[in-house]
Amino acid sequence: MGAAPAFYKAEEQIFLRGSPEDMLAAIDELGHSQDFLMNVGKHKGKIVADLIAQEKPKTVLEIGWYVGSSAIMFGDALRRGGGRRYISLEMNSKIFFDHSMMSHLNDLKLCQELSLVRPGSVTLADNMRRPGNPLYWEYVRASTKGKVEAARPFVNCLKDDVISLGNPLLVYRTTLLEGLEPSGHADAADVSYCVDEVVSS
Ligand SMILES: C[S@@+](CC[C@H](N)C(=O)[O-])C[C@H]1O[C@@H](n2cnc3c(N)ncnc32)[C@H](O)[C@@H]1O
Repeated sequence: MGAAPAFYKAEEQIFLRGSPEDMLAAIDELGHSQDFLMNVGKHKGKIVADLIAQEKPKTVLEIGWYVGSSAIMFGDALRRGGGRRYISLEMNSKIFFDHSMMSHLNDLKLCQELSLVRPGSVTLADNMRRPGNPLYWEYVRASTKGKVEAARPFVNCLKDDVISLGNPLLVYRTTLLEGLEPSGHADAADVSYCVDEVVSS
């Protein structure tokens, strides 16, 4: 791949997959042209990546994922050296749901259950107009009282490792951001700020 592709053009993201160099270049472009990013950067990053290449650890644990730049760089060095696991922890989570539409709501609840989503977290969900996602839409706009009532019949039911009841006590402030698909069709993404966790009554 050549020059850094524009990070925001969805149709070009396909070329980023499987190419750590291009992904890092796209993040750098974002950092230079759009916003300040506090990632480790090329120079210090290379020192760590070289150390990983030299030591060949099986696992790397990183605390402070941020936007994932170091995780891409160091994860690549780890994989090249035969390592198997890259674990990165981040306390300030931003989650972008852009996979199977039917899974968005349940995956949001799983993230709540794992405390990956909690007050301070920001969650985005794509395709809210095309094709739309009414269950997710209602959930991130529902009152905590409504969510507690909806979950009540299932509390203490047999635990399922896949289906989650989430945390109905989390409070969201949700806004729909209108935009366009690469095809030119109107679409929108929901951005939900988790602003509070109420005390169970
Ligand atoms: C300098 S940035 C990390 C940059 C990243 N390693 C990179 O090079 O791309 C620091 C990150 O650490 C996170 N952080 C701070 N305290 C933390 C903690 N106790 N546990 C997990 N993450 C934490 C912050 O939210 C922030 O995103």
